[in-house]
Amino acid sequence: MLKIRELSTGYGESQVIFGSSLEVERQKVTALVGSNAAGKTTLLNTISGINKPWGGEMEFLGENITHFSPRQRVEMGLIQCPEGRRLFPTLSVYENILLGAYPRRAQAKKEKNLKQMLEAFPILGQRRSQPAGLLSGGEQQMCAIARALMSDPVLLIMDEPSLGLAPIIVSQVFEIIKTVQMEGVTVFLVEQNVQKALELASFGYVMENGKITLSGSGRELLGNDDLRRTYLGI
Ligand SMILES: Nc1ncnc2c1ncn2[C@@H]1O[C@H](COP(=O)(O)OP(=O)(O)OP(=O)(O)O)[C@@H](O)[C@H]1O
Ligand SMILES: [Mg+2]
Repeated sequence: MLKIRELSTGYGESQVIFGSSLEVERQKVTALVGSNAAGKTTLLNTISGINKPWGGEMEFLGENITHFSPRQRVEMGLIQCPEGRRLFPTLSVYENILLGAYPRRAQAKKEKNLKQMLEAFPILGQRRSQPAGLLSGGEQQMCAIARALMSDPVLLIMDEPSLGLAPIIVSQVFEIIKTVQMEGVTVFLVEQNVQKALELASFGYVMENGKITLSGSGRELLGNDDLRRTYLGI
């Protein structure tokens, strides 16, 4: 579904991504893991069009999207759920979720999707009229996921959805990702929680200093001694 070939990019003079290639397969969860500052967010932002590539190519649904605007990518169903939640704290939960429905492709399904979200996330239904800023960390994360799902994603890109959440909430977030995938959405997931991400993912990539250094099935990577030492501390 998504093919990244020899992608490079950076900020100003400093290069962050060095010729990275990867593929995301249709209706699967693909994980990208790596230490802090490896370049994961930078790569995701390049895929969604926020950062401009310096070199390389990106293909989505068979189309070369390397020079497409973020808006064009969103209209194709390439939706990013950003790191750190990024809700509008003074808008209500309901208004935040509805904002996700702005792509033309999502407008027609707005009412149906909204109903589904408020059912899937009962806590959001209960607190729909409150400012999103008053939700707990885990609830805000759910609100951000619900908002992203309102955009009717074909490919959902998630940047650290479990960051800063208590273990029980982390498990809930991973359950939600699994459900989303089972409903036919393809997921590209960046995670610090390497164990859980690779258990869920059918395929994974490891990024170090802006380069993909290791790839394999989730199971293969979890059995890799280098990966276990570096990311799992075993
Ligand atoms: N807007 C920016 N301007 C300049 N440098 C940046 C910018 N954003 C990120 N960087 C730098 O690019 C490098 C990669 O950052 P990036 O956020 O992509 O890493 P990451 O793998 O997502 O890390 P983390 O796991 O901490 O989220 C870092 O050295 C960071 O300081
Ligand atoms: Mg990041």
